[in-house]
Amino acid sequence: MKSSGIIAAAAILMLPSLAMAADKPAAPAAPAAPAAAQPVLSPAAKGKALATDRNKGNCLACHIMGDGEVPGNFGPPLSQMKERYPDKAALRKQISDATIKNPTSIMPPFGKHGILSNSEIDQVIEYLYTL
Ligand code: HEC
Repeated sequence: MKSSGIIAAAAILMLPSLAMAADKPAAPAAPAAPAAAQPVLSPAAKGKALATDRNKGNCLACHIMGDGEVPGNFGPPLSQMKERYPDKAALRKQISDATIKNPTSIMPPFGKHGILSNSEIDQVIEYLYTL
């Protein structure tokens, strides 16, 4: 009985040192690789995420667009965009402020109202060019 008590006491005394030993890295830490751990999205993929995000572009509320589900039809289908808008500036104008072309447009002026930043509009354009 007595000896088991001593063993238990010894084990308790050893615990903190074990914990401390665990804190120390056994070997030099391997270089972290955060870049490999995170998926690298292309500008077009980022643009698709923005265009379909209900708190951002929400383009699907009004446009048939790619494989997007349950689209609205206030606006025309967004297809053959590269062919129809070879000039990116014209596309940027439409997305940034649709009222330039149509003063009574119901399409939100995404750039003018800061709903999408300039770089976000660039990404949306890259996505539209895949349609
Ligand atoms: C509230 C509805 C609405 C939303 C949301 C909307 N649009 Fe539109 N969009 C329209 C309408 C309506 C038109 C037709 C032209 C006009 O009235 O300005 C249009 C026209 C367009 C055109 C010209 C189409 C063509 O065939 O020439 C493009 C490009 C476009 N929208 C892109 C977008 C993108 C990209 C988004 C999301 C970032 C978006 N729209 C969000 C309503 C909308």
